[in-house]
Amino acid sequence: MPGRAALESVVQAAVQRVTSFGRGVILGLGTSQTSAAFIERLATTVGTQAIEAVIPTSIQAESRATSLGFRAGSLYNYLDIDIYVDSFDQCDIRGDLIKGMGGALAREKLLMSLAKNVLLIGTEEKLSDRLKAPVPLEVIPFAAPAASSILRSRGWKACPKVSEGKAGPVITDNGNLLMLVEVGEVEEPEEMERELKMIPGVVEVGIFPNKGYRVLIGLEDGRVREIK
Ligand code: A5P
Repeated sequence: MPGRAALESVVQAAVQRVTSFGRGVILGLGTSQTSAAFIERLATTVGTQAIEAVIPTSIQAESRATSLGFRAGSLYNYLDIDIYVDSFDQCDIRGDLIKGMGGALAREKLLMSLAKNVLLIGTEEKLSDRLKAPVPLEVIPFAAPAASSILRSRGWKACPKVSEGKAGPVITDNGNLLMLVEVGEVEEPEEMERELKMIPGVVEVGIFPNKGYRVLIGLEDGRVREIK
């Protein structure tokens, strides 16, 4: 569990960064407890007026943003995203990330590729020398047995992520299966991302090599560290 000071300071830093863009901001929003804390803080401390539209990455993010009074948009009316804000599951010392435990990785990676600025915020227990957490994969359900067998043949353990809510596996907002694959320590995130993405039926991979993203880490003592 992240410390309260760590979470609050990094959320506040994200609010300041977004408000520095002025008015009419198109804001991409990730699907995570941290980004939920961020959008709530933005609404309560700054208000909703400066944000032209929030482009959410899931039903959950959309309902959170709209319930706070933000206007939700989509890529059909807003392709130019000024800034995307989200969290991650694990971050290495170079700012490469594992994301997607919440199942929104495909939309998250898409919005991150479109956004002019990407801000990722997390707390220090998510930092690691190397990426080594299980990697979420979004897989077409029809392909899941084949994808599992290919992953196993490469020596990796793979299984569908079991939902803590509904019975059975986690199904993403795109109707696909969320699988977790244990690949051990990732030495070359870009290579690993490419290798996993080449498996037929894999829609998206939860490895996010840093492509100029700004990564802020909230520390237990309330300071915020930037990963550079
Ligand atoms: C959602 O698909 C993920 O990418 C989240 O960003 C990640 O799971 C981190 O979420 P928390 O802020 O809930 O830890």
